[in-house]
Amino acid sequence: MIKSVKKPESPLKGEIIIPSDKSISHRAVMFSSIARGDCIIRNFSSGADCHSTLNLFKALGVDIQFLDDKTLKIHSAGKLIPTKSNNLYSGNIYHNNIYPYPCPYSCGNSGTTMRLVSGILARQNFDSVLTGDESLSKRPMKRIIEPLTLMGADISSVDGHAPLTIKGQKLHGITYHSKLASAQVKSCILLAGLGAEGETTFIEPSLSRNHTELMLKYLGADIKTEGNSVTIRPSELIAEDIDIAGDISSAAFFIVSGLIVEGSDFVIKNTGLNPTRSGIIDVVNRMGGDIEILNKRIVSGEDVGDIRVRYTENLKGCVIEGEDIPRLIDELPVIAVLASQADGETIVKNAGDLRNKESDRITCLVKELTKIGVNISELEDGFIVRGKTKLKGGVETESFHDHRLAMSFYVAGLVSEKEIAVNGFEWTKISFPEFEELFTQLAL
Ligand code: S3P
Repeated sequence: MIKSVKKPESPLKGEIIIPSDKSISHRAVMFSSIARGDCIIRNFSSGADCHSTLNLFKALGVDIQFLDDKTLKIHSAGKLIPTKSNNLYSGNIYHNNIYPYPCPYSCGNSGTTMRLVSGILARQNFDSVLTGDESLSKRPMKRIIEPLTLMGADISSVDGHAPLTIKGQKLHGITYHSKLASAQVKSCILLAGLGAEGETTFIEPSLSRNHTELMLKYLGADIKTEGNSVTIRPSELIAEDIDIAGDISSAAFFIVSGLIVEGSDFVIKNTGLNPTRSGIIDVVNRMGGDIEILNKRIVSGEDVGDIRVRYTENLKGCVIEGEDIPRLIDELPVIAVLASQADGETIVKNAGDLRNKESDRITCLVKELTKIGVNISELEDGFIVRGKTKLKGGVETESFHDHRLAMSFYVAGLVSEKEIAVNGFEWTKISFPEFEELFTQLAL
């Protein structure tokens, strides 16, 4: 599907409520499915990725019901009893659809589903196969297979890629020094450690998002964190109701639009502000952007607030590197658009893992933003944007089946002289089906 975007006729004004956080929604369903008891999950994400997780746990025998379109009721005995494959729900490319026993569970497009669920399935008393769509089948899985194997897991893959065939085993704890600051790898190992013998410690080079640690603790796990190190001991989770905040990664598209669309002034309500996710706020402050946090509060153990953002004429470039990166990894494509409207250079370094996302987010981003008129060059582990540039637009951009690229090009279209066509706009449904509707609310 091609979507045409042009400059709005008036500034963006008013307020929006940002929809549910994708990372927290995944975890709420996964952890409640292995916790004992009943719970209500409020403000569950409508994105396709979180529905891949939900369908997978239904297929694993968990009783999950929708009370309304955003509220779930989960009843779990605390253990998984597979009933059927969920492979009807989303595309997969496993050997021309002829499945060996056991039936495959499809993770759709979702890396979070595949990597986290592997840590749970590796320690069950049954075998399973995890498949993904074409994009997910290209993403690296060695990062979880290696540490899980050290714990005693039996996982085979196709040269480090899905499908993953997991033979359930008894696992034992390890101390693992990860080279990557990846919350997906960390969460996978913690979820394996939750049911392994002995203690499991995961140490990462800088702190990645910590929703797993917070939620496991909230549900009663024996888990301790110290700096970049986290230790878990085998424990039983007890179900609790969970309220999910809005997604700062979705809010990022609005934060950038508010800063660069002339005359804008609006409030983004109910946004998650967990410090391991809020790197974009720090970057906007460094760039001199007019942003204010209002109404700070805590919801189910997570920081939440409202964000007021105003058009800022004199943004300046900055350096984004090191410990910044895991705190804003998913926001980097739209930060590149922001940097094109700031004076001077914005340099993004130490972000090589961007090449392993839903697309190669360095090469694809640089190629498409260059077409629009952004002065951007590729680095092995990031990119450099030189601003401020008048974006000419008048081109068709390709989103490479990547939801965050599609939304970033849409935002670029809001400040381009001529219309931009975004090819593959339907991929926005992966994380943020409400994306365009919320823009129309602000542009009224
Ligand atoms: C996520 C972790 C990050 C992020 C992804 C969601 C999570 O991935 O990019 O969108 O929910 O744990 P990595 O762990 O690969 O950095």
